Amino acid sequence: MRNWLIGCGILVGAVFSEGAMAQQETTDIEALIAEMSIEEKAGQMTQLSLEIVSKGDGYNVQRPHELDIDKLKNVIVDHHVGSILNCAGEPHTPARWAEMIGQMQQLATQQTRLGIPLLYGIDAIHGTNYTKGATLYPQEVGLAASWNPELVEQAAAMTAYETRASSIPWTFSPDVDLGIDPRWARMWEGFGEDPHLSATMGVAMTKGFEGEDVSAQDRVAACLKHFVGYGAPRSGKDRTPAWIPETMLRELFLPPFQAAIDAGAKSIMINSGEVNGVPVHASSWLLTDVLRTEMGFEGVVVTDWYDIWNLVERHHIAKDRREAVKISIMAGIDMSMVPMDLEFTAILIDLIKTKEIPMSRIDDAVRKILMMKKELGLFEKPVMNPKDYPLFGSEQHRQIAENAALESITLLKNDAVLPLDIGQKLLVVGPNGNSLRSMNGGWSYTWQGEQTDEYAKGHDTFYEALKRLGGNKKVDFEAGVAYVEGKDFKHETMENIDLVKQKAEKADVIILCLGENSYTEKPGDLDDLNLSEPQLALAEAVLKTQKPVVLVLNEGRPRIISKIADRVDAVVQTYLPGNEGGIALAKLLFGQENFSGKLPYTYPRYSNDLLPYYHKYSEDLAHNDGNVYEDPFFNPQYEFGYGLSYSTFGYSNLQVAQSQLSADDQLEISIKVTNTGKMDGKEVVQLYSSDIYASVTPSVKRLRAYKKIAIKAGETKSVTFKLPMKDLAFVGQNNKWTLEPGEFKITVGDQAVMINLKGQVTTLQ
Ligand code: BGC
Repeated sequence: MRNWLIGCGILVGAVFSEGAMAQQETTDIEALIAEMSIEEKAGQMTQLSLEIVSKGDGYNVQRPHELDIDKLKNVIVDHHVGSILNCAGEPHTPARWAEMIGQMQQLATQQTRLGIPLLYGIDAIHGTNYTKGATLYPQEVGLAASWNPELVEQAAAMTAYETRASSIPWTFSPDVDLGIDPRWARMWEGFGEDPHLSATMGVAMTKGFEGEDVSAQDRVAACLKHFVGYGAPRSGKDRTPAWIPETMLRELFLPPFQAAIDAGAKSIMINSGEVNGVPVHASSWLLTDVLRTEMGFEGVVVTDWYDIWNLVERHHIAKDRREAVKISIMAGIDMSMVPMDLEFTAILIDLIKTKEIPMSRIDDAVRKILMMKKELGLFEKPVMNPKDYPLFGSEQHRQIAENAALESITLLKNDAVLPLDIGQKLLVVGPNGNSLRSMNGGWSYTWQGEQTDEYAKGHDTFYEALKRLGGNKKVDFEAGVAYVEGKDFKHETMENIDLVKQKAEKADVIILCLGENSYTEKPGDLDDLNLSEPQLALAEAVLKTQKPVVLVLNEGRPRIISKIADRVDAVVQTYLPGNEGGIALAKLLFGQENFSGKLPYTYPRYSNDLLPYYHKYSEDLAHNDGNVYEDPFFNPQYEFGYGLSYSTFGYSNLQVAQSQLSADDQLEISIKVTNTGKMDGKEVVQLYSSDIYASVTPSVKRLRAYKKIAIKAGETKSVTFKLPMKDLAFVGQNNKWTLEPGEFKITVGDQAVMINLKGQVTTLQ
């Protein structure tokens, strides 16, 4: 028994040039593959969930959690399984992770013929959310609202550190698929609706996770997800079919994946749903032709949970599990997140033996998996010592999480009620006012996040933080509506509304905290995007008191608030701000910090009006056929990119270096931005282009570039963008990127300029 690669002589400290090292690694991996049996190869392609090697029965694991050594041996030694995921329903300390993963790695590296280390994977999606005491920052939708990629990179780097501190080298993050449908339960797991914002944020997060050298002891491999088109289900419900024309798939959905692939992402997880009638796990067009050949992805392709079996049970495209394994592996899957039995491994072995799956496809998959293990340094050091991670859960990390919350929370309306004065009597109302669970959302300590108040104890809720900053005697709380614990996240009950009214009489301002309880994936499906009836009734009761009302939203998706938005005095969107959301909100409401978040999605006003900002001109017009109709066609509650501040910003002097350009030119645009307010602030300078006419109907506008800059009160700053004209291309009727001559409007703030692209229609490579 030995660690094969180390036995082969790849020792840390050996002196190789970078190129020679890479070649040596490849040669060693090839030699290792040549040694492997069919069973060992099928094992490497298998990923199982922690429950299956734990004491207990299936998902009913024993509490407190314990590994079952016999099961573990069966899986790792007898069946050569190469990867395990998940936390078996509870978070663990870094020391406990090291102990568990240590046992697994000991078996994998010492008790198997080839000594190949195990690859442990986890959903560390807003911090290392399955490790006790880890730093939890805003969910991705909130990170996107910061419009600050540097900050997002820092947050991801911190997660990489805390995840490796837990001996886990692989995170199933970032989610770079577009959240294009506000009804969808997983909208908050992505960066919102825009391809450019998602791409830049996805790149920042990938770099933060992987760094320059992913084998470093504070870095982890990223896993992009969910490839592709998961966020556009026709029904609005999770894991239901999406219908996305190829032009749209290429123009909107693929670019964020491409950007993160180019940034070096080591792995990718597949969309559980179907696109245009084909489940993505079965689509060799998407998984091989597009992802591998066109996009040049060289890393590991992993399924999502149970999704090979779902080809039979959910999608009905395979007659049995055997056919499902064959279809998905041939389509391009490298690793199956099975997750609860060894049937996949057995079927795969048989399919290899009968040559129904060629060895070349198997070797290709195994090569990628082994290469990732090698690049992560697992052959040299498969387990970490938590003592080497003094910054785990530190004040330094907490501060990054607070900064991320401060920069993401978005002020959507302020009729002179904010900032609050210390000394004002505040009444915090609503089910989200005193809940760490709702502040964090899903994927927090447990899958559905239902035990967050217990695990995150010590962090401030909105109410607690306001009380801490505003004074114990000045800030009171009365829920009015409660989420029912132990039930579906939608269960809400009315509490004592009379008490709310009585307390409101004594208050100067009411902080009305509404939104959603935590949910993850399918359990978060909704039938109605309107804010719930109990919460709307509570809002009505509060509004009747005639006191100023600050509506604080805390929600995974934009629940419709049009019945109350015009009557409250201020609206603040916190998204799912994580454990530091309370303190961040309090500092912002009291004016100790300035707002700088901007919406990463369009906030709908009506349930029939669920379009993204890059809808078509015909969806924006009130006069389509020569007549003028009174009904607005597109009238969101708040627009994409919108967000107020305690400062005001004036835009002037938009200039382009040239207004007549060719396809290979770069457009240089400059603008002056002045902080015309009294408080220092940060502004997100956003540049949009509008194609005036094109052979595929253009969107009314598209975000092309942005910069977040700090501007002191009274100061003016100049911002310059350099935009290659190729960035104005669209995907044409032939499904190829196309640049057509003609007029474009470039808009920054309230300034606009027309430019003209000369020359011929160009098809881009
Ligand atoms: C989710 C993925 C997640 C996986 C592993 C699935 O149900 O769709 O996003 O990474 O579980 O936990």
